[in-house]
Amino acid sequence: MNKYMFLKRIICGLAVLSVFLPAAQAQQQQQYFDVPFVPTPYVVIEEMLRLAKVTPQDYVMDLGSGDGRVLITAAKRYGARGMGVDLDEDLVAQSLASAAEAGVAERVTFQQQDLFKTDFSRATVITMYLLPGVMMRLQPRLLELKPGTRLVSHDFSLGDWKPDVTTQIRKNTFLWIVPAKVAGPWLIKAALPGEQQDIEVELRQRYQEVDGHGKFGGRHAQVWESRLSGDQLSFVMVDDRDRDNEAALYFEGRINGDVIEGRVRRGTGNARTVHAWRAVRPPVK
Ligand SMILES: C[S@@+](CC[C@H](N)C(=O)[O-])C[C@H]1O[C@@H](n2cnc3c(N)ncnc32)[C@H](O)[C@@H]1O
Repeated sequence: MNKYMFLKRIICGLAVLSVFLPAAQAQQQQQYFDVPFVPTPYVVIEEMLRLAKVTPQDYVMDLGSGDGRVLITAAKRYGARGMGVDLDEDLVAQSLASAAEAGVAERVTFQQQDLFKTDFSRATVITMYLLPGVMMRLQPRLLELKPGTRLVSHDFSLGDWKPDVTTQIRKNTFLWIVPAKVAGPWLIKAALPGEQQDIEVELRQRYQEVDGHGKFGGRHAQVWESRLSGDQLSFVMVDDRDRDNEAALYFEGRINGDVIEGRVRRGTGNARTVHAWRAVRPPVK
């Protein structure tokens, strides 16, 4: 091979590399992202924020914030504050510019970081448009958030954790309210008419679904109509101490760690009376 041919080969080789290297780099970068950028349509964003009942008191975090449109809408429409995280540097820069243009740069910020390495304990609302596998990886961490935190997702669910609300406006939108932990035994003291009652209750819990049974006046008693939403628990038991004067007891209370406090309505209509109740974890025997 003469000198001319050798040089020609090198130039051809470099030309081929210059075509394929950027494509290979782009592919590598794409593989690194857990989800590609696909923006949520504005009508779906409105539904997500409506479901989450966003207010100016909320701190909204968008996990994989794309071009920033979810948070910018939350700030513009509802006065919320918040932060978006995305791995894509260009999208983060675009989001910051759009927030400034929309006049909400004081309320929302965007950072280039991995959502799996992001602390989202400050959020009162989390918005997501991710993929099923990513949602499943996030699920255990989402479940540990402060009870009452609202999670909204465009299109994808959280496996066997059923949403509290599902709506469909062009796309599926899901809302979950992080439930407090109530499973296990409780000892209730309720200031009901007659003598103070000690009621034992054993609750079972699967995410926000709760049922249970207990002992009232020393006898087996069923727990009916249990509902759990964030830290708010309600259920019904029947006061059958006096068979001629039975009445349903409608318990409503707020869970705060190992204490539940609230009020219980005994009976209905003009026979209704209202009393305080408090439940604690019984001492371990
Ligand atoms: C489907 S888009 C959603 C964008 C925006 N939330 C919306 O609803 O319009 C998903 C975004 O997640 C980002 N992303 C993917 N993997 C990520 C990760 N591990 N950490 C942070 N962002 C990520 C992508 O760059 C992309 O912008």
